[in-house]
Amino acid sequence: MTPRVVHSSLHGRACRGKKGAMKSVAASTILGIGHYVPSKVVTNDDLAKLMSTSDEWIQQRTGIKERRYIEHSGIGASDLALPAVKMALEHAGLASEKDVDAIVFATLSPDHNFPGSGCFLGHKLGLPGVPALDVRNQCSGFLYGLSIADAWVRGGVYRHVLLVGAEVHSTGIELADRGRDVAVLFGDGAGAAIIGPATDPDQGLRSIKLHADGSGAKDLWLEAPASAYVPRLTKEMMDEGKHFPAMNGKQVFRWATEKMPEVSRAVLEEAKISAGDIDLFVPHQANLRINQLVCQKLGIPESKAVANIEKYGNTTAATIPLGLSEAWREGRCRRGSNVLMAAFGSGYTWGAAVLKL
Ligand code: COA
Repeated sequence: MTPRVVHSSLHGRACRGKKGAMKSVAASTILGIGHYVPSKVVTNDDLAKLMSTSDEWIQQRTGIKERRYIEHSGIGASDLALPAVKMALEHAGLASEKDVDAIVFATLSPDHNFPGSGCFLGHKLGLPGVPALDVRNQCSGFLYGLSIADAWVRGGVYRHVLLVGAEVHSTGIELADRGRDVAVLFGDGAGAAIIGPATDPDQGLRSIKLHADGSGAKDLWLEAPASAYVPRLTKEMMDEGKHFPAMNGKQVFRWATEKMPEVSRAVLEEAKISAGDIDLFVPHQANLRINQLVCQKLGIPESKAVANIEKYGNTTAATIPLGLSEAWREGRCRRGSNVLMAAFGSGYTWGAAVLKL
C-alpha cells in the first residue's frame, strides 16, 4: 500500500501543523479498542423452544453454542456501541470523547432507517458538529470503515477517527421454523476502535484490500422495505416474510471459503509478510467451519485465530473489533504484533487487512 496524501476540502479538527496546514502522517494504527455485548444469553436450547432446531445441529454446522440479545425494546446499535467506545477511548489513553474528530459507524442494523447510527452515537457522546458516516457493507463493514479511517488519518483530514461496528440482529430475525436457517446464526454486539497516527514508523496498517460483487446480492439480503417497491412494504410482503433476511447458505459458504483466503494472501503479499509471521488472525465470525477451512488454506494454525463464535454467534460488522478487543485483553496480541483481519459477507463484500499493532 503506497501512502498517499488525500486532498480534501473537509474542515474539522484535523491533524494540523504549526501553521495550521493539514499534515499528512506516515501510517495509521489502532490506538485503542473496546467491545460490548448485552447481558441476555440465548442458548441453542432456548432457540429450540421457538423453532425446529437442536443444539447438536447448530453446533455441528456452525460452532455456535449461544449468542447475546438486547434485554428489552429500545436498545439500538448506537446504544450497544456506547460502552465499547468508552472502553476503546480508555485503551487508547484518550482523555474524553472530545478527542474524537470523526465517526465511522458500520452496521446493517441501524437504530432507524435514517439518519445513520453514527449521528445517534455522536449525539449520545456529546459531539455536536463532529462528522458521522455510516457504512453499509455488512460483515465487511469494519474493514471498509478501516480503509476510510486510514485515508483520513494518513491524509491529515482527521486525527482520531472513532470506528464502530455494532449490530442488533435479534429484533430483525424470524424466530420460527421458516427463518431458522438464518435465525440461529446471528447475535447482538458491538466493537469500537480509535484509529489514529502511528507513533512508531514500524507500526500501523500495512495493506488493506476491499472487494464487492453484486451478482450474489440476493444470496443474503433483506428484500423489504424497499424503495424499489410501491409501497415499500405491504401486509402481503410481511406474510411472505420479505422483511426478514433470506440466505442461500451453501453459496455463501462456498464464496466465503474461496474469497477470504484469496484476499488474505493478497494483503500478505503487499505487506511483504508471510502467513508464518502473523501473530494473530482475526477472521469474521460467520461459521467456525468456514474459519477452520480459511486457516487451513492460509497455513495459519487455528491456535492463532480468534474464535469466539461459540459465545456470540455472528455479530456482522462487530465481529472483528469484538474479536480483536477480547484477544488483546487476553494477551494474545500486543503492540508490535502482526495482525491479519479478513471478512466476507452480504453484497457480496469482502476484504482483508494487515496491521502491525
Ligand atoms: N436447524 C435444523 N435444521 C436446519 C436449520 C436449523 N437451524 N436450518 C436449516 N436446516 C435444515 C435444512 O432445512 C435442511 O433440511 P433438508 O435436508 O430436510 O432440506 C438441512 O438442515 C440442511 O440444510 P443445509 O442448508 O444444506 O445445511 P448446511 O450444511 O449448508 O448448513 C449453514 C447451513 C447455514 C450452517 C451453512 O450453509 C452456512 O454456514 N453457510 C454460510 C452462512 C453464513 O456464513 N452466513 C453469514 C455470512 S456473513
